[in-house]
Order: sequence, then C-alpha cells, then structure tokens
Amino acid sequence: ALQNSSSPRSVKSTGRTQYHLNPQASYKVAILGAAGGIGQPLALLVKINLYDIANVKGVAADLSHCNTPAQVSDFTGPSELADCLKGVNVVVIPAGVPRKPGMTRDDLFNINASIVKTLVEAVADNCPEAFIHVISNPVNSTVPIAAEVLKQKGVYDPKKLFGVTTLDVVRANTFVAQKKNLRLIDVDVPVIGGHAGITILPLLSKTKPSVCFTDEEIHELTVRIQNAGTEVVEAKAGAGSATLSMAYAAARFVESSLRALDGDGDVYECAYVQSDVADLPFFASRIKLGKKGVEALISSDLQGLTEYEQKAVEALKAELKSSIEKGVGFAQKQS
Ligand code: NAI
Repeated sequence: ALQNSSSPRSVKSTGRTQYHLNPQASYKVAILGAAGGIGQPLALLVKINLYDIANVKGVAADLSHCNTPAQVSDFTGPSELADCLKGVNVVVIPAGVPRKPGMTRDDLFNINASIVKTLVEAVADNCPEAFIHVISNPVNSTVPIAAEVLKQKGVYDPKKLFGVTTLDVVRANTFVAQKKNLRLIDVDVPVIGGHAGITILPLLSKTKPSVCFTDEEIHELTVRIQNAGTEVVEAKAGAGSATLSMAYAAARFVESSLRALDGDGDVYECAYVQSDVADLPFFASRIKLGKKGVEALISSDLQGLTEYEQKAVEALKAELKSSIEKGVGFAQKQS
C-alpha cells in the first residue's frame, strides 16, 4: 500500500495551496508496464505494486532500498497480474511500445490496442472499482477500447476511466511561462480535445494568470505544444519518446487522484474522459475529481473561445471521432 506521506507532491494543481493527505489513510496504486521508460521513473515517484512482462524484479529491488514508507511489490507475467491488482485503488497503464522518429501515435495502435485490452480485462476482473489511468498511446483510441472492455465485463464506470493528458498541460504551462517570463508555479493552461497532433488544443485564452498573446505567439505556442511529443521523439532519435516528463506528469495525476479519493474537495485536472462537452463520446477537458472519480466536467472552458480556438475545435473533431471509432471497432471485433 502506498503511504500517503511518501507522495511526491503535496501541492494543489493551482500550485499555491499546501495540502497534506491524511497520514492515516493508505491507498494502493499499481503500475502496469512498470519496467519501461515511463514506468521506472514513475515507480520512483510513486512506489507501489509494479507489474511488467519483463525486468520488473530489478526495478523493485532497486526501489525497495529507498528509505520512504511506501511498500514496493513486484509482479510479472500473466499469472501474477491478478495478485498485482487485488485491492488496488488506482491503476496506471504505461504498458506498450513508444514512438520512433517518423511515427504517429496511431502507428502504435496495432500493438498497444491488444496490450491495453488484456490489461483492462484483468482490471475489470480484479479491481473494477479502481480509477484507471491510461497512458499507452494512441490514447484517443486506447481509452475507448478500455471503455468497451469494461462494458463487456459489465463494470464500466465512466467516471473512473481517464486518458492521461497531464503532460500536455505540463508542457503548455512550461512553454507559456518561458515565453512570457512568468513564474512557472503560477501558470495553468487548460488543454482540451485529445492526445495526438491537432487534437491537442491548449486554450491559451483561458491561461491563468490572464496573459496577452499576439496572434503569432498563439499560433507558435499552439503548434509547439501539439508537437512537443514529436520534439522529444526526434531528439531521442530512436531511443523512445517522452519518459521523464511523462512520469512527472503521471505522478501529478496519481497524486491528484489520491487527494480526491482522500476527500479533498478542490481537485481539478485535465483528462480525456467520457464526455458531453463536445458532440463526441470522449473528449479531454478540465474535470473536477472527487471520491467517485469525475465529479464534474468543466464545460465553461469551452465557452467564450477565440475564433482561432473555435476553428481548432472544429478541425480536431473529425480526427478525434475516427480515432474513437477505431478503438470501439477494435474492441467490438475482438469480443
Ligand atoms: P517502453 O517500451 O520503455 O516501456 C513499456 C513497458 O511496457 C516495457 O517495460 C514492456 O515490457 C511493458 N509491456 C509491454 N507489454 C506489456 C504487457 N502486456 N503487460 C505489462 N507490461 C507490458 O515505453 P515507454 O516509453 O514507457 O512508453 C509507454 C507508452 O506510453 C507508449 O505507448 C507511449 O506512446 C506512451 N506515452 C504516452 C504519453 C501520454 O502523454 N499519454 C507520453 C509518452 C508516452
């Protein structure tokens, strides 16, 4: 079980208020794909139940020497997956292959779709009440796959299934703060839509604190945020995609989920979830997190958009729709 006192961050997403989790409470988190590029640094930030099909023993032995209170347990291979998931409150899934230069996230579909399907089936069987954080790409399709699997198992709770888009927010905050010389901790940019190319839409007009951008700056920042993953893939030149910044972002989303589970009534994050804020079944937006998962979708962010943002929302819908349909089609064909 993860002792909350070992949480990596105790700061709300606004970055201003200190909030310490109840030191008595303890929650269990599992990382599936824990020996990977994202899994390992994430496991360092959130020591817990680690599962991978390879190399997880060494990761767990290594982490177990840290003098932090969280227990770390390792599980490997399909026969140990159920034990890894029993009693778990939050399941994080960064299992699967990452991009190489020249690849889109959708190019990962053929391999990652099956991995996510298999893992979510096990989640449905062993911890159907858990929050599920899907990191494996293409998130725009793997989340609809997870939803279909959970429906087939009769345990789908749309409030507890999340596509992790926190890295898009982390990147947007960083780039805006750099460009405008703001204190990083003050900046918060909502990012909506999905998690690939033009479906990633930072709402720069809703930046907090309020900032004035020229049209040129808006376009430049939007495109940079949309292509930031590719920037890393190219810089790593074949050695994978974002892992450290992703682990940082995933740890933030886990921490927010644990605070919500613990009764903090002021937890907001962006995530890709079942939604009715746009006329698509899944959409990323700001959400309020509570003990039961998504407590509210913050649809007001989609009101009063600039013309640039409105056009971008319209432009992303077709791509997002087809990614969703591809995921649903895959899961239904397999059932
Ligand atoms: P990696 O290849 O370094 O690690 C993946 C791990 O998953 C490996 O240890 C592998 O053994 C494991 N794995 C494969 N099949 C498995 C299974 N059936 N059960 C359990 N574990 C399994 O890849 P990396 O860099 O950690 O990326 C993982 C995924 O995260 C990729 O799909 C990547 O595209 C995605 N990603 C998502 C981001 C987001 O913002 N949502 C950002 C960056 C990456």
